[in-house]
Amino acid sequence: MNIVLLGAPGAGKGTQAQRLVEEFGVAHISTGDLLRAAVKAESKLGRAAKSYMDEGKLVPDKLVIDLVKDRLDSDDARRGFILDGFPRNTAQAVSLDSELSELGRSLDGALLVDVAPEVIVKRLSTRRTCRNCGYTGTEADVTCPRCGGEMYQRDDDKPETIQHRLDVYQSQTAPLVDYYRGHGILKSVDGDRPVDEVYADVKKVLGL
Ligand code: AP5
Repeated sequence: MNIVLLGAPGAGKGTQAQRLVEEFGVAHISTGDLLRAAVKAESKLGRAAKSYMDEGKLVPDKLVIDLVKDRLDSDDARRGFILDGFPRNTAQAVSLDSELSELGRSLDGALLVDVAPEVIVKRLSTRRTCRNCGYTGTEADVTCPRCGGEMYQRDDDKPETIQHRLDVYQSQTAPLVDYYRGHGILKSVDGDRPVDEVYADVKKVLGL
């Protein structure tokens, strides 16, 4: 299973990826998680990425593409992967195609989790993330239900940044829907339903 997840910020890509990873044991490659870990570690990459992320802008392609290349080549990703948050623009999509072709692999599907912008704003302003394991929940989760860690609000989940992220999505990432439709691998689910219902549909459209 080699899948790309598409959808606006807060559409539920990470939530659905967590389910697929738990059930099918494939690698979850989330560029947002990898970049946040780099920021936390104050690595060279993290220092370069932080200001872009805080403002809701895309981190420069070169940094993100190198990060994904390394991860795709790791042992667990060879058994299958869910790419979450990558590609984010056409240049990244073209680079992914050529990297996979070099590795003798290809995508089985690009899955759009479709949710209207007004739902997104509410979801992101109430989202909480585990500082320890990265679990995604809501403000109802005082501690992480998975590991008991501290839940916090991401810096880019503040209202002014959310709107900017949505604008960036519309201008740079939404065109990928047509890109993958043109490649004949686009699948889509209505993400504005309870998580279990969305997940059942995800498995159905992916033939799992
Ligand atoms: P990233 O971490 O990828 O953020 P994003 O795409 O904006 O996606 P989110 O993580 O915000 O949302 P999601 O769709 O995963 O939703 P979730 O499942 O959490 O990127 C962050 C930043 O990193 C970017 O702005 C950029 O700066 C940089 N970056 C990352 N990748 C990059 C790239 N390739 N190139 C350049 N820069 C890059 O759900 C959201 C909330 O809704 C949660 O609270 C969840 O519990 C809830 N929820 C989920 N599903 C449902 C449902 N069905 N019903 C009700 N609530 C739900």
